[in-house]
Amino acid sequence: MKALIIADNNQLEFVDKEIPIPKDHEVLIKINAVALNHRDQFIREGKYPGISVGTILGSDASGTVLETGKNVDSVWKSKEVLINPNVNWGENSKVQSSNYHILGTPSDGLFCEYVTIDAQKIAEKPAHLSLENAAALPLGGMTAFRALFHHGRCQKGENILISGVGGGVAQFAFQFALAKGANVYVTSSDETKRTKSTELGAKGAFNYKDSNWVKEAKSKSGGFDLAIDSAAGEGINDLIKLMNPAGRIVFYGATQGKTQNLDVHRMFWNQITLQGSTMANDDEFKEMLAYVRKNRIEPIIDSVRPFNEIITAFDKMKAGDQFGKLVISLLSN
Ligand SMILES: NC(=O)c1ccc[n+]([C@@H]2O[C@H](COP(=O)([O-])OP(=O)(O)OC[C@H]3O[C@@H](n4cnc5c(N)ncnc54)[C@H](OP(=O)(O)O)[C@@H]3O)[C@@H](O)[C@H]2O)c1
Repeated sequence: MKALIIADNNQLEFVDKEIPIPKDHEVLIKINAVALNHRDQFIREGKYPGISVGTILGSDASGTVLETGKNVDSVWKSKEVLINPNVNWGENSKVQSSNYHILGTPSDGLFCEYVTIDAQKIAEKPAHLSLENAAALPLGGMTAFRALFHHGRCQKGENILISGVGGGVAQFAFQFALAKGANVYVTSSDETKRTKSTELGAKGAFNYKDSNWVKEAKSKSGGFDLAIDSAAGEGINDLIKLMNPAGRIVFYGATQGKTQNLDVHRMFWNQITLQGSTMANDDEFKEMLAYVRKNRIEPIIDSVRPFNEIITAFDKMKAGDQFGKLVISLLSN
């Protein structure tokens, strides 16, 4: 089978591998579609812990179960499924274990034609989604779901700010918050993304690169009860300024690095919470899928391309000009 690995000198390379054989507790899946996350590009750039040459990349995929191991219910056979990319979350639902990681580094991932996986890690694809659209969901959907609901405690009618809505996780946070009935506002550096977001239901869209955006956002929204962010850096202080008293800021990434001068005075006086978040536990994977089913959420897809063009999707991720997920179809493989 064909697989995309990280090779020497941060090169991406297609290799041929044996089709794996499922162990007793596993299923063999024919991959139908995969989707990129920024971590895949970070790995390509050598900016991720635990990189090892020869690893098959990729954390998001949909597929069809071809074979079930001896201890797996054969009812799974022929089902269209999504794969939970968590490895070793562990017993504590509040935090991942010390040997937690995500499929695609350090262990082999899903950018390949066939995979064997623990049957506990699969769930039926939401019926309203195509195989391509469903592949966009797992990692981004899980991360957004935990940030927004577990930590963010997002409520109907609250004012919520999703920063950098062009991001793969941010788009899900945006859609999930809209489905909850919150008043959702977004930021984006890209005018097209701001326009699309308002068309999709955002009450306001601001350019975080404009020097005036904080004032504009405050005057338009009146302030926010919750902000979901992955940039961190000095921008956290802008979010702190924009929070209503007792507001919550949840961040799941730090693309802009450390915050050098955290506005601690405004934080304590206004009783602001700053909460870190990462991926989601195995139960939340299923809860997220149930939420997507119930609200018939359709992931925003930037583009779908064939497997042999996957490297152009990495290039697009690097340029950051996509709005929505970069999906790769293996349906014709
Ligand atoms: N903790 C976890 O489990 C977890 C899971 C997934 C991702 N992450 C992390 O979260 C970050 C985003 O990941 P992703 O896959 O969503 O990446 P992505 O799809 O490449 O999105 C990145 C987005 O960040 C936005 N951005 C850039 N600079 C910004 C700033 N100064 N203020 C606000 N937004 C800014 C941009 O939005 P616009 O284009 O709209 O301007 C950009 O599209 C990465 O650091 C990633 O490692 C963490």
